Amino acid sequence: MNKKSSKKSSSIENYSHLELFNLGKIFFKEKKFIDFRSKGNRSGFEAIKDINLKIEKNTFVSIIGPSGCGKSTLLNLIAGLQAPTSGKIVIDGQAIKGPGPDRGVIFQNYALMPWLTTIQNIEFALNTVFPAKTKADVKERARKYLRMVGLEKASNKFPKELSGGMKQRVAIARALSINPNMLLMDEPFGALDALTRSYLQDELLSIWRKNKVTVVLITHSIEEALLLSDKIVLMSSGPSAIISEEISVDLERPRDREKIEQDPNYLKIKMRLEKHLLRETRAVEEVT
Ligand SMILES: Nc1ncnc2c1ncn2[C@@H]1O[C@H](COP(=O)(O)OP(=O)(O)OP(=O)(O)O)[C@@H](O)[C@H]1O
Ligand SMILES: [Mg+2]
Repeated sequence: MNKKSSKKSSSIENYSHLELFNLGKIFFKEKKFIDFRSKGNRSGFEAIKDINLKIEKNTFVSIIGPSGCGKSTLLNLIAGLQAPTSGKIVIDGQAIKGPGPDRGVIFQNYALMPWLTTIQNIEFALNTVFPAKTKADVKERARKYLRMVGLEKASNKFPKELSGGMKQRVAIARALSINPNMLLMDEPFGALDALTRSYLQDELLSIWRKNKVTVVLITHSIEEALLLSDKIVLMSSGPSAIISEEISVDLERPRDREKIEQDPNYLKIKMRLEKHLLRETRAVEEVT
């Protein structure tokens, strides 16, 4: 941790790590011609509105909601990749103005650069975030994170030569290599087979424990959210999606996949989540 951030962390008692205040996002249509009837009003699609959320440092938070409700939009706003139409995002007491090395993002589709090898993809991120590091330092660090996700042997392969699970592990290694305070993950395990998914979930948990990062994970899987999270945030169906509920997952850690499924508290939260998703998915079907 650099001097600046350690100074900051000593005075953050009175605010949460990440705070969203009345966050809203409207996607405005691009104007291809001037419509005199619109009287200057721009029409747009309001994806999310009035999102208020507080996330504490080093916690694991999952976001669940029906497809198309605005989860990726919310994550992109937190990542600073899109600007909100209203409201603000505050990290450690400072309003964010764009993307930053404090946040590592893992996209739904891995987003690796196809013309770079596995190790070069990580080196690229490192060179961007730490321009002062020597070539040898960057290589060593990239190797360390590839080793962490069990991919050192694939370091000279190109993304097209990797399986989906391997690509996802590269994306995780890349996001972690820049040593972010926050890991923002958009359905990272959605496209994987059950075995790879379980393996990577365990890996993520151990990375989270060891590296003291705050994780915000978007998932469609109730079981995944229950296994991993301290808190589950439920979003309503869109348009104008809001946060409809926040559920604390007070299940002991480490959590054993088979054992927690017998826990009455687990079953209670699971039922609540299933009901929510069913209700909100029906709401989407009624609109469309
Ligand atoms: N750039 C954009 N321009 C216009 N509308 C957009 C844009 N990006 C997203 N939307 C709309 O905003 C809504 C939310 O999209 P978003 O991708 O955030 O949903 P999601 O919850 O991540 O969906 P999924 O679960 O399928 O990944 C959708 O109706 C989508 O069509
Ligand atoms: Mg999405």
